[in-house]
Amino acid sequence: MQDLLNAILAKASGELPGVRSRPDFEAVKARYVGPNGELTQVMKKMGAVPKEERPAVGKLVNEAKLSLNSLLESALSSIEALEIASQLGAKVDPTLPSPDLGPGTMHPLTHVREEMCRILRKVGFSVADGPEVETEYYCFDALNTPADHTARDAQDTFYFPASTAFGNISRKTPNEKYLLRTHTSSVQIRTMLKGSPPIRIVSPGRVYRRDTSDATHSANFHQLECLSVDRGVTVRDLKALLDYVFSSLLGPETKIRFRPHYFGYTEPSFEVDLSAKHLPKVNKEWIEIGGCGMVDPTVFSGVGYDPAIWTGYAFGMGLERLAMLLYGIDDIRYFYQNDVRFLKQFSLGT
Ligand code: DAH
Repeated sequence: MQDLLNAILAKASGELPGVRSRPDFEAVKARYVGPNGELTQVMKKMGAVPKEERPAVGKLVNEAKLSLNSLLESALSSIEALEIASQLGAKVDPTLPSPDLGPGTMHPLTHVREEMCRILRKVGFSVADGPEVETEYYCFDALNTPADHTARDAQDTFYFPASTAFGNISRKTPNEKYLLRTHTSSVQIRTMLKGSPPIRIVSPGRVYRRDTSDATHSANFHQLECLSVDRGVTVRDLKALLDYVFSSLLGPETKIRFRPHYFGYTEPSFEVDLSAKHLPKVNKEWIEIGGCGMVDPTVFSGVGYDPAIWTGYAFGMGLERLAMLLYGIDDIRYFYQNDVRFLKQFSLGT
């Protein structure tokens, strides 16, 4: 009996792992445990076993049955795994780039930034960079913005705790607080201190303000700063530059105008308005686009340039505002959400 059971089990364990489909499995299963199956036949013979041998033989048969069941179960689960694998199709490596995605496109802000830099490079400006973590000196004091100016308020500016120190960002005085720059105008100071006139730089970059996010505000956004220092620079040069920049970017129909304003670092100072009725969603005649003016003599003295010799103009504006005008975007938050449906619309300049 033992030999017979062993022979059945050996045959089953040789045969079952090779079974690959459910119909084959059912056929093989029937050959062992079906009504006329080999194991079934053995069990039928139990009646003929003498009474005193029955417990021992019964135990053997039971063990054989359990072993066969587990062989059947594992064969079935291999078949199920094969079925799932065939439903899933070929193996996929989820870390590979999707084959359905074409090459990406430039983010609209990147596009506007690059376009502005290209336009300004053409007329002799080079791109300058400055740190986003700044100190009070570079962001305010050197720009003739006194300690009690509202822009310096902790409600408007992100200050770091007094204990924070950044080894790679130079401070003018040891106790100066670090902050996140509120404008790119700080790059004017770092550039003037590093070099000597004449200077012509454009500096795009990220800036930070304690603003609550809504359709037109974001606590971090982007600006673009221009500085030109030379002998005999006048407001006419400034106006001519801005006429050139905006008509190059937005089309020759674009007009700009200056409105008198106050900035500590320029004198005279102006706000710049833009008229571009040909652009989508521009429904006002004049839209404020930035600030500018002639570099204040105090700023020149502070960086060691003789204001009797050197003159210059500076200009700053928000890149988001410009991109919104150019593309007819009505909510600043779209720029930062990385929604491909939004981004895909700007396939310019890929
Ligand atoms: N820094 C100003 C701002 O954040 C913009 C600005 C105004 C920049 C006048 C300038 C300037 O360079 O001359 O709103």
